[in-house]
Amino acid sequence: MSDRIDFAALPDDFAWGVATSAYQIEGAVAEDGRAPSIWDTYAHTPGRIDNGDTGDRACDHYHRWREDIGLMRQLGVGAYRFSIAWPRIRPDGDGPVNAAGLAFYDRLVDGLLEAGIAPFATLYHWDLPQALQGRGGWPARETAEHFAAYAGVVAGKLGDRVAHWATLNEPLCSAWIGHLEGLMAPGHTDLTAAAVHGRGFPADMREVYGVELPERAGDPETMAQPLDWLGLNYYFPVVVAAEPAGPPPFARPVRRPRVPRTGMDWEVDADGIETLLLRLTREYGARTLHVTENGSAYPDVLRPDGTVADPERTEYLHRHIAACARAARKGAPLAGYFAWSLMDNFEWAYGYDKRFGLFHVDRATQARTLKDSGRHYAELIRSHPRRGTPRTS
Ligand code: IFM
Repeated sequence: MSDRIDFAALPDDFAWGVATSAYQIEGAVAEDGRAPSIWDTYAHTPGRIDNGDTGDRACDHYHRWREDIGLMRQLGVGAYRFSIAWPRIRPDGDGPVNAAGLAFYDRLVDGLLEAGIAPFATLYHWDLPQALQGRGGWPARETAEHFAAYAGVVAGKLGDRVAHWATLNEPLCSAWIGHLEGLMAPGHTDLTAAAVHGRGFPADMREVYGVELPERAGDPETMAQPLDWLGLNYYFPVVVAAEPAGPPPFARPVRRPRVPRTGMDWEVDADGIETLLLRLTREYGARTLHVTENGSAYPDVLRPDGTVADPERTEYLHRHIAACARAARKGAPLAGYFAWSLMDNFEWAYGYDKRFGLFHVDRATQARTLKDSGRHYAELIRSHPRRGTPRTS
């Protein structure tokens, strides 16, 4: 691989990790008291997901979590980012706590710690309890209050062992793709519902889009609490050209010739992750950064000899880690990198055809097979000369 990785720029306790999310891997959607989420509803709506796939079984991680911790050990990662399914914990969104649902994550966290792997928990990775959607979903203010209560329940159970918490995964996707473009759950197309985020609403964007936003006095202060760390999910850049006469936002994406693309048709551009990490450091004053997702999908094939050759993903991974280390050398306070994903899983509206995993998953047998990219990641982790244990706080 041509790009040299400047391991010395990374801290000793750098969190080398892998990431997943609940609906994409767990399956067992009707077990132990779990109720449907908006993704169950969306996935079961004809025409929404490629091939009619659903997360009903996914990677069956709910039953195979021990085996999956074994996969992490095989990679040698020191950290695992997973998400907690709100509809397992409070199936009605705000009703009684489901002890069996909490117990699943309790076992998982203990299993990770026994394996020397630091748990990084995400509280919301898009699976809102369907019951709350029925009462207005995210555009209803009460949903934020129910989320705070659910977070308190989870923290009360796991907070003694989980030091790293993420609140909302990629809120842009829930807000914009789920509520304006309608291409993710709940599948709405309403601009007012889509625009909620950050420290108040940017004045220029209010003007550009011309919508009345549901802000109340005190909201910006409540939302803008200090962060312990900031997570960056980076896959590809979008290059745009100005289009002053067009509709908001007066720009259109440009397809750059000769730039390689992944199986998602996303550009491969590792310099983008370096630029973003440095921007978050210099313009947003981030004190601690983690790359909480980065990865690529390709149409991998399990060969008769039991191997999966995925040179494009291997190169993608290597180059992006090299770019992360360059950003760290230039001052980005980078504390961890989480490859997306541990294993092939349910890629939302694309179903199972888009494979992002470092392990190949056979859909019929659920057999997991280490890909060449996973082998390479394990070698990189081993090459970090001063590798220690990720920070616990
Ligand atoms: O699979 C998703 C993940 O759930 C959120 N970030 C992007 C990934 C790849 O599309």
